[in-house]
Amino acid sequence: MSSADVEEREREPAGGVSTAAAESTFAEVDDRERITPAIEFQDVTLAFDDKVILDKLSFTVQKGETKIILGGSGGGKSTTIKLILGLLKPDAGRILVDGEDITEYTEGQMMSVRKKMGMVFQEGALFDSLSVYDNVAYRLHEQNVPEGEVEQEVRRMLRFVNLEDAIDKMPIELSGGMRRRVGIARALVGGPKIVMFDEPTAGLDPPTARTICELAIKLRDLEDVSSIFVTHEMNNVKYLTSEYAVVNDDGEIVFEEEGQRLCLINTKVLMLRGGKIIFEGTDESLHKNEDAYIQRFIRGH
Ligand SMILES: Nc1ncnc2c1ncn2[C@@H]1O[C@H](COP(=O)(O)OP(=O)(O)OP(=O)(O)O)[C@@H](O)[C@H]1O
Ligand SMILES: [Mg+2]
Repeated sequence: MSSADVEEREREPAGGVSTAAAESTFAEVDDRERITPAIEFQDVTLAFDDKVILDKLSFTVQKGETKIILGGSGGGKSTTIKLILGLLKPDAGRILVDGEDITEYTEGQMMSVRKKMGMVFQEGALFDSLSVYDNVAYRLHEQNVPEGEVEQEVRRMLRFVNLEDAIDKMPIELSGGMRRRVGIARALVGGPKIVMFDEPTAGLDPPTARTICELAIKLRDLEDVSSIFVTHEMNNVKYLTSEYAVVNDDGEIVFEEEGQRLCLINTKVLMLRGGKIIFEGTDESLHKNEDAYIQRFIRGH
């Protein structure tokens, strides 16, 4: 049930049901919706030829949570994302998206599930022959949305990534960081509640990488988006786990560090190695972990 439906029914309690009883029922519905994870892997196994890539992988991404996935090259991070998008199917185990078991879904069934999800690819993956406007509008054009609505949504998303001025440019005219931001705007069209970032800051200079992290933080704290954020960069982990976005008294979005206010940072780290989870927890406990591989990964050597 959507929150709009819940609101509608709250205003019109069913005949004979006391308001208090109705409220408690709605609260339960709401709670149940919240505790359904955005993404759930249950013992997911996948092998290519004889090589096991994911070995009974189980994890959840709760609603509103950002799960950072770390791990060496070839560790199965992008494969994990492809499984969630239904582009690959597991050999064993179950995958649930927003409570729906998508494991056996056909391509047709996956289409409606994918509408809930946004995907940010490495390098932005823009269509070079299309303008920024048409790149961001791509999904809406596919769905034959009226052009007036398309333009409104494209402008809203480009404003979110601070690139409204680039609306008529071609991808070739953009810097790497701008391309990445256009890729993010495209992923966010239609307001997906689940967003997956696959190494969104790879190859970017530190300030631009920071901007991309800020976008992910804004989605988490201001839009209640659940996300998976694959990265190699420990700086990204630091930003995402120690800062949060708030709207200040002047209506501006500002970033504050944990500790300035009492705040639960809804971001956890998961590290994959050899198809298994070798660490899952907070950034703080990751740094305290004494495993030699984890320590080397954190230090970058
Ligand atoms: N379609 C495929 N067919 C065969 N092997 C594949 C296929 N896709 C991925 N692999 C293999 O699966 C392993 C995991 O790949 P994946 O792309 O998930 O790694 P990753 O963790 O994203 O690595 P990176 O950090 O380099 O992006 C790699 O060894 C890769 O060669
Ligand atoms: Mg990858």
